[in-house]
Amino acid sequence: MLIRRPHDVPPSEITPKSVFAQRRHFLQFAAGGALSLALPAAHAGDKLPIAARSPLSTDEEPTPYRHIAGYNNFVEFGNGKEVPAERAHRLRTAPWSVTLDGLVHKPRTLAIEDILKLAPLEDRVYRLRCVEGWSMVVPWVGFSLSALLKQVEPLSSARYVAFESVVQPDTQPGVRFPLLDWPYTEGLRLDEAMHPLTLAAVGLYGEVMPNQNGAPIRLIVPWKYGFKSAKSIVRIRFTDHEPPTTWNNLQPEEYGFYANVNPEVSHPRWSQARERRIGDFLKRPTRMFNGYADQVGQLYAGLDLHKYY
Ligand code: MTE
Repeated sequence: MLIRRPHDVPPSEITPKSVFAQRRHFLQFAAGGALSLALPAAHAGDKLPIAARSPLSTDEEPTPYRHIAGYNNFVEFGNGKEVPAERAHRLRTAPWSVTLDGLVHKPRTLAIEDILKLAPLEDRVYRLRCVEGWSMVVPWVGFSLSALLKQVEPLSSARYVAFESVVQPDTQPGVRFPLLDWPYTEGLRLDEAMHPLTLAAVGLYGEVMPNQNGAPIRLIVPWKYGFKSAKSIVRIRFTDHEPPTTWNNLQPEEYGFYANVNPEVSHPRWSQARERRIGDFLKRPTRMFNGYADQVGQLYAGLDLHKYY
């Protein structure tokens, strides 16, 4: 993706992998849902209590863990696909809470431990298509975001939801530079946010989320380009207007608000007709709505997808 200014983080910020291995952060968990296996403490790599494999999962072969957790975009840690895995161990993921406010009856700030009790955790194997032209198959762990959004009882005037990622200048070297406008912000229409496919993800491969993938809780919207899926969320705000979003603010003609995966609408600088699945040699055709057209196509009935890209 195009970054406005080419500054990056000084090499002195790079932490050797040996240090990374010794300094994993700890996340207090109270496991919720049907299995209720109470984990006193959990950290990246710990097993999560999973109630079921979601029928919304794809049968495609998941991308190896080392790629999913080693090839990332998380600009708060700097530019470069390997940078988040090298630096994200510093992120403080405990204590953690998410504030839900704006056009709601009951604004609340919920601790991650309480969020994890809202719904049983499921394995959800989804395709992830990045706007840059690569894709993966990721076995996320999480629950439908709607279970969280319902907690605050949205007002009938609420039509959109804005998601804000954490800003920790002492742990995220990238936020000390104007690489993007901070905090990283994304948005969805409320009906998109409430759709059963839209996931609040807390792990992958059956384990607590690695920090570089957006611990302790992130958004996953599998029919949209990856940049919509904000990581390490601290705030969810309900509004009556389309919220400003980071990539759309930066380059509106390149990154639309909708960002639905669409092989027929090219990015101004490259075609979106094909994608390279990480680990494959040959490219494959990109599918409309990333292959989720049967589930989400009706959300966009009557909308000109060339205009609302
Ligand atoms: N969220 C935040 N806060 N910061 C980011 O830089 N990058 C986005 C998205 N969410 C990003 C983010 C982009 S461009 C992609 S493709 C996905 O995260 C990558 O998710 P992954 O690293 O888990 O594959």
